[in-house]
Amino acid sequence: MTSNNKITFRDDGSPYSEKFNDIYFDTESGFQQSEQVFIKGNNIAESLLAATSEFTIAETGFGSGLNFLLTLKLYAELSKTHQLEPLHFISTEKYPLTKEQLSKALSCLDKLDEEQAQLIANYPEQPQEQHQTTFLADKVKLTIFFDDATEAFVKIKLPRKNNGLVDAWYLDGFSPAKNPAMWQPALFEQMARLSKPQARLSTFTVAGVIRRGLTQVGFRLDKKSYHGNKEQLLIGVYQQNHLNGKGYQLRPEITKPQHVSIIGGGIASACAAYFLTRNGIKVTIYCKDVNVAQGASSNAVGALFPLLHQQADDISLFYQQAFKHALALYKDLLAQGYHFSHDWCGLLDVSYKESLVKRQHEFEKINAWPSELIQSIDKTQASKQANIPLEFGGLFMPESGWIAPQELVKQLLLAAQHTNRLRIETSTTVDNIQQLPDDSWQLQTNKGNFIASVLIFCGGAEAINLSTINQLPLTSVRGQITSMKSNQQINKLNTVVCHKGYLTPSHNNMHCIGATFDKNSFDTQPRDEDDQYNLATLAKCLPDISNELAQWQANDIVTRKARLRCMTPDHLPMVGVMPDIEAHKTSYAHLAKDKNWRFYQAAPHIKNLYLLTGLGARGLCTAPLLAEILTADLTGTPYPVNNEMLFHLSPNRFVIRDLIKRKLT
Ligand SMILES: Cc1cc2nc3c(=O)[nH]c(=O)nc-3n(C[C@H](O)[C@H](O)[C@H](O)COP(=O)(O)OP(=O)(O)OC[C@H]3O[C@@H](n4cnc5c(N)ncnc54)[C@H](O)[C@@H]3O)c2cc1C
Ligand SMILES: C[S@@+](CC[C@H](N)C(=O)[O-])C[C@H]1O[C@@H](n2cnc3c(N)ncnc32)[C@H](O)[C@@H]1O
Repeated sequence: MTSNNKITFRDDGSPYSEKFNDIYFDTESGFQQSEQVFIKGNNIAESLLAATSEFTIAETGFGSGLNFLLTLKLYAELSKTHQLEPLHFISTEKYPLTKEQLSKALSCLDKLDEEQAQLIANYPEQPQEQHQTTFLADKVKLTIFFDDATEAFVKIKLPRKNNGLVDAWYLDGFSPAKNPAMWQPALFEQMARLSKPQARLSTFTVAGVIRRGLTQVGFRLDKKSYHGNKEQLLIGVYQQNHLNGKGYQLRPEITKPQHVSIIGGGIASACAAYFLTRNGIKVTIYCKDVNVAQGASSNAVGALFPLLHQQADDISLFYQQAFKHALALYKDLLAQGYHFSHDWCGLLDVSYKESLVKRQHEFEKINAWPSELIQSIDKTQASKQANIPLEFGGLFMPESGWIAPQELVKQLLLAAQHTNRLRIETSTTVDNIQQLPDDSWQLQTNKGNFIASVLIFCGGAEAINLSTINQLPLTSVRGQITSMKSNQQINKLNTVVCHKGYLTPSHNNMHCIGATFDKNSFDTQPRDEDDQYNLATLAKCLPDISNELAQWQANDIVTRKARLRCMTPDHLPMVGVMPDIEAHKTSYAHLAKDKNWRFYQAAPHIKNLYLLTGLGARGLCTAPLLAEILTADLTGTPYPVNNEMLFHLSPNRFVIRDLIKRKLT
């Protein structure tokens, strides 16, 4: 412990460090700054509520303990209404206040009386080495290391098979300009060593040297404003663990580009353009058709719903999260005044056969999902939801519904254009892409060659044979939808109904039925037999609707359309950088012998080529979250998903799996 700390007190009673020539806290704004930066910046309330085991906060610079007291107060408040896991607050202090100084320092704060008194009573007379004390009937433990922050963290041992210790970091401790000795790479290395996956950090400094140091050890960072936009804080999430031996899961760091080029025109590119332009990046879209949204995203109506299995498995968890992001984006777009046809009318997945009735019972038994997302209902409730008599119950998703994808794509692109950062080049077919010696890309098109410093592939199934992209396991599955004339009975239907296919409520006096699945077909010419298949499937699965309500014949077909779905082998989409597959084979060859072999080098990748594709049959649900992930890739900001999910979506996952299964040599 170092005791050469000269503290003076200002007129308002607040402590001031003569050594660092700086204040401990800002009495002008009360404790707002500490609350905004550390408690809110780190999402402490939400994290405490979500914690499933002891929650650990670590701090640099205990000082007068204000941050601890605010955290304790929050914990006390939340525990009045919630059962919380214990909290361990670990702090460090190289130049401790004496008990008397602490008492004097805290006396200028008036809102924390109760907590303050407890802390002062428990604070050591002579701060030395390490001090531990508990609060709130032992639910909250405070450990203070009276030592330099890095030295203190070095002493903390982790169990051998650990998954980290710290959930949130409060990086206090005077600014890097005034206290450069504390903000050293060694501190960041200790933070990485002690962090749990997804550990958060917040700090009042946004200095470049701090950002670089934290990024280097695996934190993804973002600047936020507070105090009516007057001040900035830095938040971070520990998402790129360089120490866990899974180097192939590390995503490349890229300097945020000023401009990107996208091959696309559908929902994938529209969501990407929306988020990228909002984050200050200029975008040019190259689309082969005369207008955007002519590919898979051109359907008159598409259902918006997550894919959920009985168990909360990886796929379902991804779709649950994607659905939440999609609804949030689409509702936000509507709230901004953009219009697209839609109805959040719910979606009923009908249990029309014995195996599905069993599945429904399993859902009820396992009860893995909140009822707002999905609920089991009987045929009376189902008929009520659908507003037509139904012969089966099923699984109902109340927040789901339908959207007109073409209108949605156009509105998203319009919103992106309103940032003045989007240009769309239609009738421009990219026939070939070629990397140039400076790592940029040349796009060879019917309108000449274009250069892209960063290229993003959102071309869907039509473009999977493009060079370089064709190394990925993407396939095309053709689907045809048939639009049927509405009538007085079926017109009453007011929820989307899914069986083996689906039936949507009336929109423009039409119902969509569909769809067919033809593997490896690139043909988009509509076929009569596909219409017959759609009608026959409806008749087979839901005979009452087909025979009594709709009574559709071939001459009730108003229109039909066939388009291509872009599929991946595991039914999860792809987002991220294009892997260098050949280099993967050499770098990670040892996976074939030992799948747990530890690799520290980051995944080899093809520079400046990214993908957002493989959206399969659910692009409306998944495109927004994928676009947010892509934006995080390109801006260096925190990912909206955890590391495992990120790897499940990573384009190199197939190479790694194939190497483990010895399918690649
Ligand atoms: C029959 C059917 C029914 C479906 N129903 C639903 C549903 O109910 N709900 C749901 O969520 N999803 C549904 N889907 C899936 C959904 O439509 C897709 O997941 C989604 O539209 C894919 O979007 P995308 O942007 O990746 O591709 P697309 O919409 O196909 O867009 C690709 C774009 O790339 C452009 N392009 C391609 N190649 C080139 C090139 N070489 N040069 C320049 N531009 C190029 C095309 O012009 C096009 O604009 C359905 C799909 C089909 C086929
Ligand atoms: C701005 S004050 C902290 C404010 C504090 N959180 C509070 O609520 O009072 C910064 C603190 O960091 C401490 N500090 C400075 N360098 C340090 C280091 N290397 N290790 C640990 N603490 C340090 C200072 O002594 C000081 O108490």
